[in-house]
This record gives sequence, structure tokens and C-alpha cells, in this order.
Amino acid sequence: MAHLFNRNVLLGVSGGIAAYKSAELVRQLQERGASVRVIMTRGAREFITPLTLQALSGNPVHTELLDTGAEQGMGHIELARWADLLLIAPATADLIARLSAGRADDLLTTAALATPAPLMLAPAMNQQMWKDPATIANISQLSERGVHLVGPAAGQQACGDVGPGRMEAPPVIAEAAARLFENGLLAGTRIIITAGPTREALDPVRYLSNHSSGKMGYALAQAAVDAGATTTLVSGPVSLTPPEHVRCLRVESAGEMLEKCLELVPECDIFIACAAVADYRPAAIEQQKIKKGPEQVTLHLVRNSDIVAVVAAGDNSPFTVGFAAETNDVLNYARDKMQRKGLDMIVANDVSDPSIGFNSDHNEATVLWRDGEQVLARSSKSTIARQIVELIAVANKGGMCV
Ligand code: PMT
Repeated sequence: MAHLFNRNVLLGVSGGIAAYKSAELVRQLQERGASVRVIMTRGAREFITPLTLQALSGNPVHTELLDTGAEQGMGHIELARWADLLLIAPATADLIARLSAGRADDLLTTAALATPAPLMLAPAMNQQMWKDPATIANISQLSERGVHLVGPAAGQQACGDVGPGRMEAPPVIAEAAARLFENGLLAGTRIIITAGPTREALDPVRYLSNHSSGKMGYALAQAAVDAGATTTLVSGPVSLTPPEHVRCLRVESAGEMLEKCLELVPECDIFIACAAVADYRPAAIEQQKIKKGPEQVTLHLVRNSDIVAVVAAGDNSPFTVGFAAETNDVLNYARDKMQRKGLDMIVANDVSDPSIGFNSDHNEATVLWRDGEQVLARSSKSTIARQIVELIAVANKGGMCV
């Protein structure tokens, strides 16, 4: 069974008799590890109550586009960004037509336009409607745009007809959704990812550190595993659980992180430095707790080695990707860091905005390499991670000039 750990699935339910099966689908998605939020169209609410899906998903169900109360909670754009996948089940003929036309006349179609996440549809309709040339044209246009389809299945229909148009069974839909994240792009490669902050001890109870939560690095580890890579996290102190199938090695200080990375790097193909490593450490660690003394004290700090630069400069160095956490002139500083540190690629993120970057669930970034760049629009860290991994996979196979 494929999994959806750490995945946010936005489930859209439109108005067809199969809407009752969406209750079971919520369960199936959760069993695979997903967090689920639900949008229901007006038609869907004729078949099943929002209360049922709210109770099952554990989250309020979203129904209206122009609802001030709901917008104060999680607004439609935020909802669209939250999603790692927008799954619409059942997707009626009318909804498919509106998606194909790019309409945004209710919350669900607006979210479909506003989300950078992949879109998967589980069509459900009468067999004659499914075979109608209008539906065929709409489905073919959506498929060309990269929309994923699961089903429909064929068989006895609620209206008494027999043929294609039944919504696929919830376990089949949940499995297809989970498989979407297993792209095999990095099958056979070995990746090391550094994540989280480092702690530089001052005395037995105090340290210097920063606000990195590890979320970006752990999302990258999940994306790397989904892409089929053998993945190792070298993680500073964070409160996150490592994704399944990821080897996680915990370290505290920049010195320990360097030591661990150098030990592992000869056995790796791709190195991603996402950790917020302290540039400096106290010149000496006091053996006893430092006592309160004068009004002002001076700390003597010494420079830490630059881990990613050391890795990139080594013999047979792996494909090396750094991050640049900047507060101003982001792209220029990032490009300069990429050159100075000898990196193949760098992910520039603006950490002056508290809604992205450090300790947020979202990020936005520009990925730079020697001859190109790609902007990654604001989205969940797992979507950003998947996009970074896709770019790395192309570049690592020689598909870009790096
Ligand atoms: O952990 P989160 O809360 O999810 O936040 C994510 C993040 C903001 C920490 C992440 O997206 C990010 O930007 N990571 C890099 C943070 C950083 O230290 O950036 P920097 O510009 O100071 O360093 C540039 C690069 O050198 C980075 O790849 C860094 O890992 C590396 N470095 C820095 C210093 C050092 N001694 N060794 C290093 O390897």
C-alpha cells in the first residue's frame, strides 16, 4: 500500500450520487497518513451533509467562496496553497466541464485554479454522459493539461444503466493518489540532506542557535524517498518525526554535522544542504554554567567550517545543492553564494517574510543553476520540495547546463 504521510489532501466533493462514498474516501486517505480537508459544492450538499465529512476529516468543511467567516479561518487561497494534492471525487460531468473551461464560479473551481498542487479527478456520471463528445473533449483537454484521472469504473449504475461512469472504489482512488507522489525520478540514487538548526554550546545549559524547524529539510527527504532515492537526513535538533524509509542521523553542532556529512558523502550522489548551520561557535565551551556577572559581556566566536562548500570541493563531489536564506537582494546574494561555494544549484528563499522560510509550513523560492532559474510560487513546503527534487532529477541526468 502506497502512503501519504505528511501529505495534505484537499478533497473536493461535487454533486453526484457517489458523493456518499467520499466519507469512506476520507478514511482511506487518512489511513495512508494524509491530512484531509474537504470542499463541498452546493450539489454535493444535497447528497451528504458537511457534518459527516467534518466529523470524519476532523476539520471544518469549506463550502462558500465568499464567506467572511471561513475566509478568516483558512481563506480559499491559503487552502489552495495548503494542498499537496487536490483530489475531486466524485467529479461530475458539470464540474469537469467547468474545470475544462477554467471557470472559477465556486470555491472548488477557484481552488482548482489557485493551487499549484497536482489535480486528480475521479469522474462519476451516467454512462451516456461519460460517452458524450462534450465530456470526451473536456476530459481530453484536462488530461493534456496534466490533470490525473482515476476511473471511472464500469458496471451497474444508480440510474439502472450499465456501463462506464461509476466512481472508482475509495481504496482504488486513495491508492492512485498515493502513487502520484512516487515518481521514481531518482530511483537508484543516494541522497544526503542536512536539515534543521545547529546548536553551538556556550556552557552545559546554554547554546547559540536559530529558528529553523527542519520542516523544509524533512519535506525534501519525503520528496526524495517518493522519487525513489535512498535518503539520509543529517538533522540538527528538531521536534519532527523523520519520514518513513529515511535514515535519520541526529547531530547537535555544526562540527558534528560536518563530521557526519564527510563520513557519508563518499557514498552519495546528491547532497542537499538545507540546514541552517551556525556560521560561528563560541571560542570555548565553559565547563560550568556561566554565572551572572557584569552588565555587559563579550562573547568570542570563531568561524565554523562551511559544510556545503567543503563537500562541493571534495574529490568526486556529489551533485551539490545549497540553500540561500536571504533578507534582501535575494537572487544576487544567492548567485554569489552558489559561485563562491562551488555549488551545482542553489535554492534562494527570502527569510525576511515570517509567513515563509523559517518555521513556517510554506515557502516560496527561486532555484538557480549556472544557465537558468525557476521560480517556485508560494506553496506548502512539501510541494516546494517535490518541485526542487524534480529540478534536481533533471539537472542530475544532464538535462540542464549546471
Ligand atoms: O527549517 P525550516 O524552519 O523549514 O526553514 C527552512 C530554511 C529557511 C532553514 C531553509 O529553507 C534554508 O534557507 N536553509 C538554509 C539556511 C542557511 O543557513 O542559509 P545560508 O544562506 O546562511 O547558508 C547558505 C548555504 O550554506 C546553505 O545551504 C547552508 O546549509 C550552508 N552552510 C552554511 C553555513 C555553514 N557553516 N555550513 C553550511 O553548509
